[in-house]
Amino acid sequence: MITDPRLALDLAGVKMQNPLIAASGCYGFGFDYIQWVDPREWGAIALKGITLEPRAGNPPPRLAETPSGLLNAIGLQNPGIAFFLKEIRPLLRELGCPAIANIAGESVDHYRELAAILDGLGEVSAVEVNISCPNVRCGGISFGRDPATVEKLVGAVRQVYRGPLIVKLSLEAGDIGAVARAAESAGADVLSLINTLKGMVIDIHSRRPFLGNITGGLSGPAIRPVAVRAVWEAAEAVSIPLIGMGGIASAEDALQFILAGASAVAVGTANFVNPHIAREINLGLQRYLDDKGLRHYSELVGAARRETDGR
Ligand SMILES: Cc1cc2nc3c(=O)[nH]c(=O)nc-3n(C[C@H](O)[C@H](O)[C@H](O)COP(=O)(O)O)c2cc1C
Repeated sequence: MITDPRLALDLAGVKMQNPLIAASGCYGFGFDYIQWVDPREWGAIALKGITLEPRAGNPPPRLAETPSGLLNAIGLQNPGIAFFLKEIRPLLRELGCPAIANIAGESVDHYRELAAILDGLGEVSAVEVNISCPNVRCGGISFGRDPATVEKLVGAVRQVYRGPLIVKLSLEAGDIGAVARAAESAGADVLSLINTLKGMVIDIHSRRPFLGNITGGLSGPAIRPVAVRAVWEAAEAVSIPLIGMGGIASAEDALQFILAGASAVAVGTANFVNPHIAREINLGLQRYLDDKGLRHYSELVGAARRETDGR
């Protein structure tokens, strides 16, 4: 485990040893990799998305590899909030790093109800509101597209949840700046971006879509330049901190997001290839700070924007 004060941060009240977050859906409820990786290698872990009721998810196949990417259509499979409270919540302190609950629903009321349940739970350091899942028929991305809907949904959650509130944005919104501003004005403390991008693969032998859900969400290095651009544009639009993600697999990748304006970065798909990714990225960040003679990585947040006057 790396403890280096040059990497520590306070993200809207979440105290993190380093700016790396395990991205939601790619790290289970924090214990999936525990045989190989000490969870404290992460600054925080975003847990798998939870809904009010258990969800079986989409029919298989749910994963397809693509060039430099992964297409998934899990469909928010999860055991539901009651199971989470009873079986998972009591274990979360054992992670030794902050746990971020990720919530999803099919209506504004679902989100509000989940957020109210999570309010005040000591084991949950923050709530991340997923308004950008492309793999569910109701809710998900349909909430994240329209600034007025985003404002309504985030406002409803803000009324009942007093802790650090992260809103996870969809790039499918088109105008990421407008959606980012809507979330900020409704009371989000932090924005995270990007979620996966909707795509599909066709099996030429069966002549059918490969995934059981027909479409899926693309993640991994294939989406990185798009994600860096999204962080750049969101940083222009809002003044709250950003968590950047999308294809991060090295310290160099993470630095691009930080230079674009991200205060923290999340790593999803790369965990499937390299479970030791958090440690490697943190070591790489330390080397970069050594090389450049910097006292804290936060000196780099948005530095590329300042170099170009945000152009
Ligand atoms: C298998 C899989 C499951 C995911 N599940 C969730 C989820 O439950 N909630 C969520 O907000 N994002 C979910 N995501 C999106 C990731 O958190 C992340 O935003 C996206 O994959 C981009 O980062 P990456 O390229 O590092 O994976 C999932 C991604 C993958 C690959």
